[in-house]
Amino acid sequence: AIHPVIMSGGSGTRLWPLSRKSYPKQFVPLAGETTMFQQSVARFAGPGFAPPVVVTNADFRFIVTEQLAAAGVDPGAILIEPEPRNTAPAVLAAALWLERTDPEALMLVAPSDHLVPDAAAFRAAVAAGRAEAAAGRLVTFGIRPDRAETGYGYLELDGPPGADGGARPLRRFVEKPDADTAARMLAEGRYLWNAGIFLFSVRTILAAFDAHAPHLTGPVRRAVDEARADLGFLRLAPAPFAEAEDISIDYAVMERAANLSVVPYDGGWSDLGGWEAVWRESPHDGAGVATAGPVTAIDSRNSLLRSESPRLELVGIGVENLIAIAMPDAVLVADMSRAQDVKQAVAALRARR
Ligand code: GDD
Ligand code: MG
Repeated sequence: AIHPVIMSGGSGTRLWPLSRKSYPKQFVPLAGETTMFQQSVARFAGPGFAPPVVVTNADFRFIVTEQLAAAGVDPGAILIEPEPRNTAPAVLAAALWLERTDPEALMLVAPSDHLVPDAAAFRAAVAAGRAEAAAGRLVTFGIRPDRAETGYGYLELDGPPGADGGARPLRRFVEKPDADTAARMLAEGRYLWNAGIFLFSVRTILAAFDAHAPHLTGPVRRAVDEARADLGFLRLAPAPFAEAEDISIDYAVMERAANLSVVPYDGGWSDLGGWEAVWRESPHDGAGVATAGPVTAIDSRNSLLRSESPRLELVGIGVENLIAIAMPDAVLVADMSRAQDVKQAVAALRARR
């Protein structure tokens, strides 16, 4: 079976004020009834999958257990990071934990902040990458890009992606290019976006860490070896874990590895990385207005208006390209083109505290 490893320790600052440090976006029902965390777990459940390994931050551990229970999922393990160190230490800890029972196991690393409308189609893509992963490749999943997005990783293919969905070798992985590079790669036509989902064997990823980020292995191995079982959580040891570099798996391993493959995936995918993405993925009226909660929009266009409380009326009149998110204790009003800058606002608010 494939072991899903669900990464859910991020803090999702670009969706402030809905996403909070203590309750980030993956745990909020943003699009639909269930949360993105619950959807991510459900996507890789059933035949062929082992119970999920969830890696999260100490602050979110009870949110995780509550949401797993609500979704009817019994986890294989919940690994608790004493502090956030980004995704490389988190993936490495999961690999080292799985190594104890089965070093040949395949692990599917999946983020918890995505929308994938057709889960069955994505599972088929995973199945298409399975043999490559078992043969020692690091398998990525490629999304056809439609804009020069700088917030994603780019996968360089040997030629145009083509129609058949099978796995193929990858020439290079470029994490979060600058705007010019992204525009050039979009124009060239043989790059795909990295979906942020990876399939590999425990043995292959451990070897990749040893080759490309050997300084992480010692601290994270000690954090796993000295982990403490507590109420069904596996708490990684704080002192060694704190020594691990704060770095993502994309920079630590993927940009440096040569044994990469990609399975192109065409079935619909979105990273709800900011409010403009939420707007894009939400149902709109004819004028491009998306609303949630008790909202009235009059003569408005291309806007996202959300009230996150049933008792908070939000009214937009004659607004265009606007994001308005009303919460009982915070309100965001932003031009659609500046949605990514919410990150800066959060930094400023934190500095003021
Ligand atoms: N456990 C744990 N610990 N999870 C984390 C941590 C951490 O310290 N930091 C982030 N995560 C989780 C997030 O909650 C998210 O589900 C996932 O790991 C990916 O982290 P992001 O911070 O959202 O990464 P990104 O969106 O900037 O970039 C990645 O995803 C893009 C696609 O959405 C990269 O893989 C890009 O290459 C990719 O294009
Ligand atoms: Mg993300």
